[in-house]
Amino acid sequence: MSAVVNHELLHFRDMEESDLDQVMAIEEKVYPFCWTRAIFHDCMRVGYVCRIVETSEGLAGYGILSYGAGEAHVLNIAVHPAMQGRGIGRALLEQLLALAKRLNADTVFLEVRTSNHIAQRLYDTMGFNQVGVRRGYYPSTKGREDAIILARSLLDIDA
Ligand SMILES: CC(C)(COP(=O)(O)OP(=O)(O)OC[C@H]1O[C@@H](n2cnc3c(N)ncnc32)[C@H](O)[C@@H]1OP(=O)(O)O)[C@@H](O)C(=O)NCCC(=O)NCCS
Repeated sequence: MSAVVNHELLHFRDMEESDLDQVMAIEEKVYPFCWTRAIFHDCMRVGYVCRIVETSEGLAGYGILSYGAGEAHVLNIAVHPAMQGRGIGRALLEQLLALAKRLNADTVFLEVRTSNHIAQRLYDTMGFNQVGVRRGYYPSTKGREDAIILARSLLDIDA
């Protein structure tokens, strides 16, 4: 599956075990408290949607989506810091929403740190709305940080 974004060809495919070195390299760069390799491994093992996005420069990012009972949850989405701001994250999220729709979800949920304004802006412009707050959900350098819970209906999405 491919898409052209800002004149750049993006290729989407399923994550494989052999991607995990590069995935972990990105994960460790973008998050202060990042997932372990075992978490990615488990997500693939249990059959979550684990997608990779590639450009001509190589592996640019990844997204992880769980689903069931008419709901999907974006568990992780990240773009290599050197490739951010080029529309890749938005294209990846669009792809996750379309896949969620195909898997019969009617709503997608996700959590985002209160301090993560860049991701919040992306979600806001992608039609997500705040539906709650999880107090102290994330570890942080200052103790704990709240998560904003966002949701988006998929009724308007073409699968
Ligand atoms: C969130 C993330 C995936 C976005 O990926 P990206 O490829 O940089 O995003 P895009 O280039 O598609 O930009 C999408 C929107 O994000 C927002 N955005 C991106 N970079 C931004 C910046 N430097 N400042 C402010 N807003 C920004 C904008 O709303 C942008 O839309 P616009 O260009 O139409 O204004 C990426 O920043 C990332 O990997 N962050 C670290 C991991 C993370 O925080 N993941 C989310 C966890 S909930």
